[in-house]
Amino acid sequence: MASDSSAAPDPLTVGRYTASTVLVSADDLQARVRALGEEITADYAGREPLLVGVLKGAFMFMSDLARAIDLSVEFDFMAVSSYGHSTRSSGVVRIVKDLDLDLAGRHVILVEDIIDSGLTLNYLRRNLLARNPASLEVCALLVREKHQVDESILRYEGYRVPSDFLVGYGLDVDEKFRNLPDVRIVKVASDEAPDRSEDEVESAA
Ligand code: IMP
Ligand code: MG
Repeated sequence: MASDSSAAPDPLTVGRYTASTVLVSADDLQARVRALGEEITADYAGREPLLVGVLKGAFMFMSDLARAIDLSVEFDFMAVSSYGHSTRSSGVVRIVKDLDLDLAGRHVILVEDIIDSGLTLNYLRRNLLARNPASLEVCALLVREKHQVDESILRYEGYRVPSDFLVGYGLDVDEKFRNLPDVRIVKVASDEAPDRSEDEVESAA
């Protein structure tokens, strides 16, 4: 059983990435998610919302949020690739995994990890609205201060965040750090910034 602990991988420094600065603590996240769950419980009393999570980033938030909603809920997931070589400006989003359930007549809550530019959200809203849900609201854990979406569509949100690249609680850089229980600012050990438009080419959001 003896092991060399100095060789154990450090969960906070992986390759050239370091995630040391905590932006939102695990306790704060849990309290905020519980409050969002209570708000949704009150707003949807007498209805059965369908939570639609955007993989992969929203999986942890959606799991905690669902447990904080004191109603019968159903789940579905979709996966999209948010960024290709030039998609940041074009708004092209590709559906990698589509929903299993029919949205017609359902009260849908779209659950997102982070609204950055808002291009993914705008695309998904259009796409889901075309399936004739009875209602469609958005629940985003994090929203950039400089997002470019109409404020009125951000029905439920956890925190407004600055433009730093964030990881943890489902969010990744190069698939790392999704399992951190808090949200952290990630730094990259080189002069390259972890720019999604280059580093997350064709990766699932
Ligand atoms: P948007 O289309 O620019 O709003 O980008 C939204 C998607 O980009 C999110 O759902 C995330 O998957 C990803 N993303 C944006 N900012 C970050 C970040 O700071 N960390 C990890 N993923 C991010
Ligand atoms: Mg996402």
